[in-house]
Amino acid sequence: MDNVDYLSVAVDIAREAGALLLKHYQRVEIEYKGEFNLVTAADRAAEALIIERLHNRFPTHSIIAEEGGGSDNDPDYVWHVDPLDGTTNFAHTFPAFATSIGLAYRGQPIAGVVYNPLRDEMFSAEKGSGAYLNNQRLKVSTAPRMSEGLFATGFPSGRRHKEMNIHFFYQVSMASHGIRRAGSAALDLCSVASGRLEGFWEIGLNSWDVAAGLLIVEEAGGKYGDMHGGPYELGGVELLATNGLVHAELMDLFGEIYQGRYRIPIVPVSA
Ligand code: IPD
Ligand code: CA
Ligand code: CA
Repeated sequence: MDNVDYLSVAVDIAREAGALLLKHYQRVEIEYKGEFNLVTAADRAAEALIIERLHNRFPTHSIIAEEGGGSDNDPDYVWHVDPLDGTTNFAHTFPAFATSIGLAYRGQPIAGVVYNPLRDEMFSAEKGSGAYLNNQRLKVSTAPRMSEGLFATGFPSGRRHKEMNIHFFYQVSMASHGIRRAGSAALDLCSVASGRLEGFWEIGLNSWDVAAGLLIVEEAGGKYGDMHGGPYELGGVELLATNGLVHAELMDLFGEIYQGRYRIPIVPVSA
């Protein structure tokens, strides 16, 4: 690995992409990639901008980008790009969306930015150098128990059938301060990193949703893995990221749910 300042390049590009998203905001024309899976001109324009900038700066690197504009080059250096994380929010002018750009070296995130242009919040991290919100160092929360925590999850936009996350949603909501489903996995991860949330999980994410956010969580002192207690590899199906302190407790609860055991039975609707 070389000593190039990847992070500051990614920060500049994310800021530029964020400004572009704001120009499109509230003038959205929706297209459908699938039954409920939206895409807008803003997703495409922001992706084109990011890819052009990355390609000019790092022509030998590979890029995986959600709207398909990536390229296969050096497999060691791969940029994972979500030009607009929170497209459904954006399309409805629900104010929670971000640009996420993460660089992985041999599969491990080494630099990442998540930029929320509406709040001008630039979350960033570089491997071994800490995580930041603008210029402020980030630290995960110190809440020691699930019962003192606030959590987030999400549901994939495309694959709605056979979605089992509702069981996890119910059990965690019964055992904690509650759950938020704000609609941007990248921002959810940054909320864990900044102590606004104690944990986040989702089933069915893609590498572009999380490559930057995971490094930001880790560099803020948090922990992540899959939902069965194993490591999480970029592109993996299930992800749990926490402040570290509540991780084992959530894993216990998830283990019970995977075995079909419910701590709190779901109350049937009575006629
Ligand atoms: C989606 C958001 C959402 C998550 C979905 C993602 P998109 O990304 O991150 O919070 O629940 O799984 O697909 O489609 O808005 O880029
Ligand atoms: Ca996304
Ligand atoms: Ca997206």
